[in-house]
Amino acid sequence: MARNIKTIGVLTSGGDAPGMNACIRAITRSAIYNGMKVIGIYRGYEGLINKEFQEFTSSSVSNTIQRGGTILKTARSLAFMTEEGRKKAYDNMVEAGIDALCVIGGNGSLSGAQLFAREYDIPIIGLPGTIDNDLYGTDSTIGYDSALNTIVECVDKIRDTANSHDRIFFVEVMGRDAGFLAQNSAIASGAEAAIIPEDRTDVDQLAEFIGRGMRKSKNSSIVLVSEAQKDGVGGAMYYAERVRKEYPEFNVRVTILGHLQRGGTPSAYDRILASRMGYAAIEALQEGQRNIMIGIKNDEIVYVPISKAIKTDKPINKELIAVLNVLSI
Ligand code: F6P
Repeated sequence: MARNIKTIGVLTSGGDAPGMNACIRAITRSAIYNGMKVIGIYRGYEGLINKEFQEFTSSSVSNTIQRGGTILKTARSLAFMTEEGRKKAYDNMVEAGIDALCVIGGNGSLSGAQLFAREYDIPIIGLPGTIDNDLYGTDSTIGYDSALNTIVECVDKIRDTANSHDRIFFVEVMGRDAGFLAQNSAIASGAEAAIIPEDRTDVDQLAEFIGRGMRKSKNSSIVLVSEAQKDGVGGAMYYAERVRKEYPEFNVRVTILGHLQRGGTPSAYDRILASRMGYAAIEALQEGQRNIMIGIKNDEIVYVPISKAIKTDKPINKELIAVLNVLSI
């Protein structure tokens, strides 16, 4: 049976992602529509610890659906990783009368939510907000489609100069532990290859492949590379250096797209995704759901236990790798 939730808190945490504002808006308005009070919490879990609270009305979220970033600001909170920090956060929630929490963020943010929910009796609903698309249980995360579009726009521009100079470009994109951005932007931009953490490509095979392509029909090549992982392995510089050394006949350049992938106006797809998920979060709370992440699978809203969303690997569809390999001959 649903417990009576009168006041909800909403926060964004971790790396910002286009569409987070559309999600905040949907949560706020759906909650108000259902007679709840909404407290906006600034700077993620940091704001929960430091009591950065503001009551949100329907007009607090006016004119935000089209804006990138997050109006609630965001942070990666070290204090929340400590028991003391989480205790303070809980006490502040009780004091402010916040009965439930909506957390919009990626893997790290939902891991924090999971820890918090284990220690304290608070219903938490997670919303997948990350450009990396690395949360299990949802076909897409909020921000992923917008970031993909940004990358493709950039690669289209890089292709002009790559072509003019007969160069190989290694273009580095975000996604430390997940290759969704690299793999799918490679397909969408007609690139020659993608180097992703899930399927480390041997650099010799890669160079041989590029060489074959260049000799046959192409005068330039574009390779999308996921950024280096935490252990420092990978990244565009690493592969470019190896190709330079081993195949000096190639004219190699590197472009690191960096944080420009996280900015900009959200795509229509992300706005709709975020709006549906925000609306579903309030429905879930009313049904008495707790400690779940809202996902969308095959166009249907699904509830995924947060523990599953963060711990289960979301595999890259191997067919995508085949599509790229075949279409880049
Ligand atoms: O998780 C989102 C993400 O953009 C990753 O793709 C990237 O590795 C990381 O955040 C970068 O974090 P920061 O903005 O703290 O440098």
